[in-house]
Amino acid sequence: MNGFMNWIEQRIPLTRVANMHAIQYPAPINMNFWYVFGFLSTIVLVNQILTGVWLTMNFVPSAEGAFASVEYIMREIDYGWLIRYMHSTGASAFFIVVYLHMFRGMIYGSYQKPRELLWVFGMLIYLALMAEAFMGYVLPWGQMSYWGARGGSSGGGGKSSIAAKAGTVMNGFTARGCQQQNTSCPLGRMAARMLLNAETGSSKNITPKREKTTSKGVSEKR
Ligand code: HEM
Repeated sequence: MNGFMNWIEQRIPLTRVANMHAIQYPAPINMNFWYVFGFLSTIVLVNQILTGVWLTMNFVPSAEGAFASVEYIMREIDYGWLIRYMHSTGASAFFIVVYLHMFRGMIYGSYQKPRELLWVFGMLIYLALMAEAFMGYVLPWGQMSYWGARGGSSGGGGKSSIAAKAGTVMNGFTARGCQQQNTSCPLGRMAARMLLNAETGSSKNITPKREKTTSKGVSEKR
């Protein structure tokens, strides 16, 4: 290391930190390629959150406005198509990497003592992931959303059983699924608003007119 780099190193110990935490860090000898999928899941999660917040900026969460707003994102918004495809392809990528991650866990017995709870939390994450993906699929309010929602919410519903009742209730929920994901997740909308306001002074100038369905089912402009 030359004199200048030594001077920097004494003040900001970059090489020392890299050596301690990555280059010379003693990793278990049995670690291999299959352990990369946990990290890849994290990368896909970040992609989904970022592109999801950007889509929310122009998505209209109502049965009347959803489909048109998705068309608007695809055709009018600069690189809107890219953001949307990153989000929809990212959703599939999420399942691919998470399944490989779980596969690794099963092959190497990562669910065994003392990691039982870690596995249970993993399963909870997996359930949340499926629920989120299902609701996301419903959001565009298109043909595939409708049939996805019908199939997803009636699955398991036989003639008698609690499952049938649960199916009926879920059908009701998914009929409003479009509103649900975005309006019941105000954090994304808030972040989107804040970003737009910071950029333009007001978000009202550049977002299309949105329609809101009131509790009585009446549409009103806002
Ligand atoms: C958003 C989804 C997830 C993310 C971001 C994530 C992330 C990670 C990361 C970074 C690691 C450490 C590196 C590695 O072993 O790959 C890890 C380990 C682990 N994960 Fe996940 N994970 C996710 C979902 C799951 C699921 C669905 C399960 C199982 C049902 C699971 C079970 C485990 C277990 C058992 C370990 C410990 C492996 C060991 O130490 O042998 N994870 N996870």
